[in-house]
Amino acid sequence: MDRSMLLMCKPTYYDVNYVINPWMEGNLHKASKPRALAQWQSLHDELAKHAEVRLVTQQQGSPDMVFTANAGLAHGLSVALSRFQYAERQAEEDHFGRWFAEAGYDVFEMPREMPFEGEGDALFASDCSRLWAGYGFRTSMQSHDELRRRWDVPVHSLRLSDARFYHLDTCFAPLPNGDLMYFPQAFDAESRRLIEQFYAPEQRIIVAEADALRFACNVVCLRSKLVLNQIGQELRQQLQMRGFEVIELELDEFLKAGGAAKCLVMHLT
Ligand code: ARG
Repeated sequence: MDRSMLLMCKPTYYDVNYVINPWMEGNLHKASKPRALAQWQSLHDELAKHAEVRLVTQQQGSPDMVFTANAGLAHGLSVALSRFQYAERQAEEDHFGRWFAEAGYDVFEMPREMPFEGEGDALFASDCSRLWAGYGFRTSMQSHDELRRRWDVPVHSLRLSDARFYHLDTCFAPLPNGDLMYFPQAFDAESRRLIEQFYAPEQRIIVAEADALRFACNVVCLRSKLVLNQIGQELRQQLQMRGFEVIELELDEFLKAGGAAKCLVMHLT
């Protein structure tokens, strides 16, 4: 059986040290290091049962480095390295870049003037036939053109319009069976129409605001297993009825920085 390969970063220096999204407001220095470590470890151990997990070492002064979804985006042996919108995270770029190069990837850098926040803002459809890419808060639309040009893959740009859902992976999740779980209100009308063109009504799992705020769309998909933060019973049952095994973990220490399960993981190829 071929196992997925994931990149994670143990939260040695994790905290909320600045505010670059609405979740961080009011949470400055409020993350508990021991709880964050324990929550991360249970996510790690759960994922390691079903996938091969590789680790990158967290650097002091880069508290958000634990969110490896923002390291870059892998496509075959090529990695598009992130170019962070905010100075607070730009120091992470070199560390992630070095890790990818040492792991044997062909790394390409987006120009500085084209912010790109990796898998946090770019998700392949389950059959890899197209890339869904977010813009509006972090990633630039120009970076989508660059991906299209480099990889010759169809890229569909989606405009994020609610600051609480500032990365695509906070509100949009292509599931392995071809369905889509998403929070429509996080997108502008045109983007919603685009999504509806590609996903038939029966393929769309509409997440209610309460679950969206629990980061329900921020899910790590490993075949029929969905690993995510705790969600409401109705959504859980809906996913189970579609044949998924739903594995819920406590990840509230990371919600304080605006992330949950999927943000803590990058898919390697
Ligand atoms: N505090 C981090 C930031 O604002 C959280 C990143 C969450 N990552 C994600 N893939 N959604 O950049």
